Amino acid sequence: MKAAILSFLRNNREEVSGEVLSKELGTSRVSIWKHINGLREAGYVIEASSRGYRLVSSPDLLLGCEFPEWEKKFQHFTTIGSTMDVARGLAERGVEAGTVVVAESQNSGRGRLSREWFSPRGGIYFTLILRPEIAPAYAPRLNLMASVAVARTVRNLLGLDARLKWPNDVLVEGRKVCGILGEMGAEVDAVKFINIGVGINANLSITRYGAKAASLKELKGAQVSRKDIFDSLLGELLRQQSLLNTGELLEEWKNLSDTLNREVRIEAMGGEITGRAVDIDSNGALIIKGKDGSLRTAIAGDCLHL
Ligand code: BTN
Repeated sequence: MKAAILSFLRNNREEVSGEVLSKELGTSRVSIWKHINGLREAGYVIEASSRGYRLVSSPDLLLGCEFPEWEKKFQHFTTIGSTMDVARGLAERGVEAGTVVVAESQNSGRGRLSREWFSPRGGIYFTLILRPEIAPAYAPRLNLMASVAVARTVRNLLGLDARLKWPNDVLVEGRKVCGILGEMGAEVDAVKFINIGVGINANLSITRYGAKAASLKELKGAQVSRKDIFDSLLGELLRQQSLLNTGELLEEWKNLSDTLNREVRIEAMGGEITGRAVDIDSNGALIIKGKDGSLRTAIAGDCLHL
């Protein structure tokens, strides 16, 4: 309902009366009034006069009411430990696929390989709960899917040359702007849920990682709209899901890859692999050709472009 009220107010420059809103949205005037107050509490400035309501300004927050298609499956937090933890709890309790947990900042954001993920205000941090009907072995495809969705969004919306570094970093000008973390709940032969965590350096003015990372704001030279990025990314994620079991997803990943055809070193728990990245297999594992011509496959690990 809040999303519908906002959209009505945004589409009308003039004041809109409570009566018109209640008729158009099929609810009582008391309910409209309650929702208007809820929006004000969330930070929207809505003026009320004898002619009706007028939206004066909206907060820079990723609230469910800004994303009508997702509003019912949206959990928004101002500050949280990690969206991954909340999402895991929700997924284990059986929430619907498509539920999104969003935070404006995280105190214990985490990255791959148990690293910290710096998560101050200004970034985009969320976890999407999915329940794909795939075997656990295919779970890494979800990470590929998310990285493709982010890269496409950054390219289409901001016109930046976003590229993918295996396994699932999104880079612009060789610097990391987004990281993706997948967590799974599964039985031996069936996936119960796969939670995809996405952290985007959107409007951060500093990063802790010097030249290795960048924010979209730095790269564009101006603030970016977190709402537009998030909206378009959710749309891309929906679109990409239908490609999960097709070769198209892999083709998109390969087209956007910054890793293929480069000399790389993969540092994994089982040791190191050095050579030329020549392909990825259908599960997203990287295929590396050594100097002696032998092919080896890396399933996980850190990838260094040499
Ligand atoms: C990486 O590149 O190491 C992955 C980073 C993933 C960060 C996101 S931010 C939202 C979600 N919550 C977390 O604690 N981590 C992921």
